[in-house]
Amino acid sequence: MCQYCGCQQPAAIDELTREHDAVVALIRDVTEQVAAGRIADVAATCRRISDLLGPHTVVEEEGLFPELESEFPDQIAALTREHRQVEHVLGEAASGVPADQSWPQRLQEVLLVLRQHTLKEQDGVFPAAVISLGADQWERVDAARASASSTPPPPRSSQESQHSNSRHDAGEELESRSSC
Ligand SMILES: [Fe+2]
Repeated sequence: MCQYCGCQQPAAIDELTREHDAVVALIRDVTEQVAAGRIADVAATCRRISDLLGPHTVVEEEGLFPELESEFPDQIAALTREHRQVEHVLGEAASGVPADQSWPQRLQEVLLVLRQHTLKEQDGVFPAAVISLGADQWERVDAARASASSTPPPPRSSQESQHSNSRHDAGEELESRSSC
């Protein structure tokens, strides 16, 4: 529930927020595993994060983002690029510990991007959606969730993933424009 105007938060936003909370908890696990030198556990936790983010990203990119894209095109494009950036680095652990010696460092950097990304969405995208979306639009978001739950997301091309190094501060404008 919004602390300013008392509006009811849609179930779709509740679920996305719960998924963010779970991702943040797993990021904390990775931090502990890295500190302990448990690199195999790090890779396994990355796979759990990827599993969580798969359907979550479908809901955002096929449900929520299209409804906000016309008003916030640059911010939505930046958040989408960050999705590809995070997917790419996490995906390197899909079959185990990556051989690339630079991966642990790149992983820690991208998990910081991911943490900031969740905050941008929660402070910007989600409040903007709660304020501006109508019932028919929430139905489309719910349809994206139903689709994500029944169908795994399509694989991303490596070229597409590697093309995403931008760290635009996409949430700031959304946040400023969505305040109650
Ligand atoms: Fe998200």
